[in-house]
Amino acid sequence: MEKPRALTGDRPTGRLHLGHFVGSLQNRVLLQDTHDQYVMIADIQGLSANAEDPQKIRDNVLEVALDYLAVGLDPKKTTMFIQSLVPEISELTMYFLNLVTIARLGQNPTVKTEMKEKGFETSVPAGFYIHPVNQAADILIFKPKVVPVGEDQLPMIEQTNEIVEKFNRIYGETFEKVEGLISNTPRLPGIDGKAKMSKSLGNAIYLSDSKHDIEKKVMEMYTDPEHIKATDPGHIEGNVVFSYLDIFDADHEEVSRLKHQYTQGGLGDVTLKKRLIDILDALLAPMRERRAEFEKNPQDVLAMLAEGTQKARGTAQTTLAQVRAAIGIDYFKK
Ligand code: TRP
Repeated sequence: MEKPRALTGDRPTGRLHLGHFVGSLQNRVLLQDTHDQYVMIADIQGLSANAEDPQKIRDNVLEVALDYLAVGLDPKKTTMFIQSLVPEISELTMYFLNLVTIARLGQNPTVKTEMKEKGFETSVPAGFYIHPVNQAADILIFKPKVVPVGEDQLPMIEQTNEIVEKFNRIYGETFEKVEGLISNTPRLPGIDGKAKMSKSLGNAIYLSDSKHDIEKKVMEMYTDPEHIKATDPGHIEGNVVFSYLDIFDADHEEVSRLKHQYTQGGLGDVTLKKRLIDILDALLAPMRERRAEFEKNPQDVLAMLAEGTQKARGTAQTTLAQVRAAIGIDYFKK
């Protein structure tokens, strides 16, 4: 029996961080054993908000690929590829754009939030505004069953499924609805205590951070501003160190004991932070080592992407032929 397919991707706008790891990358490492997994580096989507800085996108294609290999995505199990080199996606985007209204795009919560973050409220690039449709094409051209994504991407999945319905209704059954696969830890707070870890907020711990970077960031981490002396009783709520221990510390009993001690008073932030530093470093050290190995031969990493892209293109061409037939624009087909 054929494995069900999974598809997901990332914009190459920077290195990947712990938020990506708990939100999606961790799932992908598991999914590659049970699914026929495709992972795209979405450079077109990256360019949609960075048209004037193509070098940044270009450089980060390799960085993101290195992060993929570092977390343990295996090219034998996961097809990693570059979005712009599968032009069939762009063609499918054009057909899908006819099925979506401008008004509907304006209601997409992911787009709304990002427009605010990027200051695009008054002059949004058209390519950025339509990127949910491009993303629907990214997804549907591979006919996946599941799409492992962070929680913030759920509106994208919803919009994708609306396109499935409309396309099928007008042109006949061609696509199936897809399912967003959200991790158990969908959201990781930033080191500053903001709800979301994000590169643009400058509150991220990167998968490629050195031990020194981790130490520095954890030591800066937001805890409880009223917990001044170790003997003061402290708060757990909103305390980022505890949020992280909840997620990354395998010893749950010890974490509850520490929480108890902290609320009673008698546990200093530095003791706790040292514990977290060790745990995070134990998680990231093997990734850092694998990354260093692959960094020695960037040409091999590019070759891996070229091979993945070729395979992805074959899959995309099959779907696009079905799409053209469904719409009735397969003019020269005998
Ligand atoms: N928008 C996604 C993000 O910012 C990246 C992405 C592009 C994606 N195309 C995709 C995710 C297709 C899932 C499926 O994280």
